Amino acid sequence: MTKRLFSASTARTVVLLAGVALSLSSCGWSLWDNPMTTVRPKSDFGRWSDEIFMLISWTTLVIFIAVEGALLYACWRFRDRPGAPIPKQIHGHTVLEISWTIAFAVVLLIIGIPTIKLIFKTQEAPAATALRVDVAGKQWWWEFSYPEFKITTANELHLPVGQSVAFDLHAPDVIHSFWIPQLGGKRDVVPHRVNRIVMTPAVPGEYLGQCAEYCGMSHANMRFRVVVHPKGEFDAWVKAQQAPPAESTDPLAQQGKTLFAQSACVGCHTIAGVSAGQIGPNLTHFGSRKSLAANMMPNTAANLAKWVENPDHLKPGARMPNLGMSGEQSKAIAAYLLSLK
Ligand code: CUA
Repeated sequence: MTKRLFSASTARTVVLLAGVALSLSSCGWSLWDNPMTTVRPKSDFGRWSDEIFMLISWTTLVIFIAVEGALLYACWRFRDRPGAPIPKQIHGHTVLEISWTIAFAVVLLIIGIPTIKLIFKTQEAPAATALRVDVAGKQWWWEFSYPEFKITTANELHLPVGQSVAFDLHAPDVIHSFWIPQLGGKRDVVPHRVNRIVMTPAVPGEYLGQCAEYCGMSHANMRFRVVVHPKGEFDAWVKAQQAPPAESTDPLAQQGKTLFAQSACVGCHTIAGVSAGQIGPNLTHFGSRKSLAANMMPNTAANLAKWVENPDHLKPGARMPNLGMSGEQSKAIAAYLLSLK
C-alpha cells in the first residue's frame, strides 16, 4: 500500500485555512470599497469614531497576544510527560485575582472614556453658524427639512462641505436609527424625544445612509442618499429647491398632473401650488431626485410607473396604498412627477 502524501485531516485543515484566507481578503477589499464602510471616514464624527475603533483594535491585539502567548506557554511548559508531577495549583491566588480584575477594569476605562466623551461631543449644542436639519424617520422613509430655508425633501440629504450640521432627529411612529456609515451615526431616532447629531462633512461626494434599527417590514428598504456639495453648489441646490417646480408642457405630463390633482395622491403628498398632504414625502422637486422609494431603485419613468401602480409589490408593507391606477394612468403620473425638477 502506498503512503498518502497528506492525511485526510491535513487536507481538511488546508482547505479550511485557504477558505478563511480567501474570505478575509474579500472582506478586507469590501471594507475598503463598500459604500457602507466605516473605515474611510469623510467627516469629523467619522474620523473620531475611527480613532476609537483603532484604539480598541490595538488594545485588543495586545490583549490577544498576551493571552494566547500565556496559553501557549502554559500548554508547552505544563504538558503531560511520563512521571511529571502535577504543577503547582494557583486556584484562589488573591494577588492574581486582584491584579487581573484591576487590569480589565483599566481596559474598560481605556475603551469607555473616549467612547462616552465622543457620544457627548457629537450631540452638544450646535454653533450659531451650524446648518440645522430636521430629520424625521418614518416607516419606511426619511424626511429632511431645512427650517432656515423652508425646504422639505425626502430620502435625499444635501449638505455643504466644511460647515457644521446639526441634525435634530425625531420619529413620528416607531424607533429608527440614523446612520451614514462614512459620515456618522448610528444614533437612535425615538418617538417623543429629539436626539441630536452634530458633525462637519469634510469631503464632497455621494454617500449612502440606512436605517439601523429594526422598525418593521421594510426596515431594510429605509435608505437614503447623501450629497455633500462643494460650497457654491449647495447654495444653488437651495435656490432650486426654493423655486416653484419647473413643469413640463408635455401632454402626457399634463394629463398626469390632472390625474394627480383629482386622485387620493393629494391627501398625502405636498407639491407646492398643487397639493398640501403631509403624510407621504413632499414631491415638489421629485424629478430632481436620483432614486425612488427611499433609495430602493433609480428614479426612472419605468420604475416610477410600476411604483405608482402597486407600491406594496415593490416595497413590502409600503404605507402608500394601491389606488388601482391603470398602466396608462401610472405612466402619465410618472411623466408628471419626473417633470418636477
Ligand atoms: Cu427605520 Cu429601520
